[in-house]
Amino acid sequence: MNAELIALIEAANRAPSVHNIQPTRFRIDDERTITLLEDTSRRLFVGDLEGKDNQRSIGAVFEGLVLALAACGFGGEIEKLGGAGDLRETMRVRVATGGMSDALEPFTHTRASYRGAFAQRTDADHAALVKVAAACADLHIIEGADALQHISRVFDDASMQVLRAPEYRAELLSWMRLSRKHANYERDGLNAAHMALSPVEAFGAGIVLGPQAFPGLDAIGLAKPLISESGKVRNAAGVALFHRPADEPEFETGRRFYRVWLEIERAGLALCPMSVLADVPRVAQNLLRENGLGADRKLVTAFRIGRRPPNWRQPPRTRLPVAELIVKSA
Ligand SMILES: Cc1cc2nc3c(=O)[nH]c(=O)nc-3n(C[C@H](O)[C@H](O)[C@H](O)COP(=O)(O)O)c2cc1C
Repeated sequence: MNAELIALIEAANRAPSVHNIQPTRFRIDDERTITLLEDTSRRLFVGDLEGKDNQRSIGAVFEGLVLALAACGFGGEIEKLGGAGDLRETMRVRVATGGMSDALEPFTHTRASYRGAFAQRTDADHAALVKVAAACADLHIIEGADALQHISRVFDDASMQVLRAPEYRAELLSWMRLSRKHANYERDGLNAAHMALSPVEAFGAGIVLGPQAFPGLDAIGLAKPLISESGKVRNAAGVALFHRPADEPEFETGRRFYRVWLEIERAGLALCPMSVLADVPRVAQNLLRENGLGADRKLVTAFRIGRRPPNWRQPPRTRLPVAELIVKSA
């Protein structure tokens, strides 16, 4: 069974994680039991002070594990754990019989963040977004040139607000792999290919975000146009505000995060999260209010959604080798 458990772990780790930091670790307790743990050394100590994004990332992996189990005809008996320490136990899953297959599982194989420019939007994209909205009551879809223009400006402003903090930029840069020579280019973090940056653009991004250039560029008004992604937001088929009950535990939010992403993939569309819109509290509140979403909801993130251009070649998934994800029993 161990080889099967390892295959399940590898499948679960196809799930998205914030900055691809992959904070989830797995312990094989016996031939049918896996414990999920948080490696608390892998956290965004500046961008995610409270560890919410880690909880969401672990929730997404857990959902990935449940989907992988279902694909093999298994279910899982689940036990919530409240661990402490460097490796924090989060959830125990005992493989059980009687799993029901899940229509979203096939899309875990193709889902990937898409950060390039979208193909020209079409009526088919609109129809696909209508389908997504019908399947996901927690996605509020924004379409139309004026609305996309507005949110593109809000996004650039919010990005500048967070990027002005040197420690935020340093942390972001520490997870960027801008050159193929980076030791972790194919292991974790955000590599140039996944950020849809050419080698020259990747080199430039490192300079612009660096401690020397950014303040000067900002002072003369050049930093914002250089980091701007507003064009990619304006040319999206739509933007989806992903909102959940304000009091929902972040782990559960993470499970749902993965599922709505898979629904969008199932509709033939690709996306890039724009979490900064949710991370700046005033911006998140305004977006919820402007879009008629109540105070009982939290904005988790916003997705810009569209179709990948036909000539796009998806770079291979960047993940840690499965052996490094598995921790030994004490
Ligand atoms: C909680 C969370 C927040 C995320 N926020 C962003 C974001 O703001 N911008 C972005 O480009 N990707 C974001 N992502 C996507 C991750 O960077 C991405 O999943 C990771 O790099 C792995 O790549 P993959 O999605 O292609 O498998 C987020 C993912 C999670 C789980």
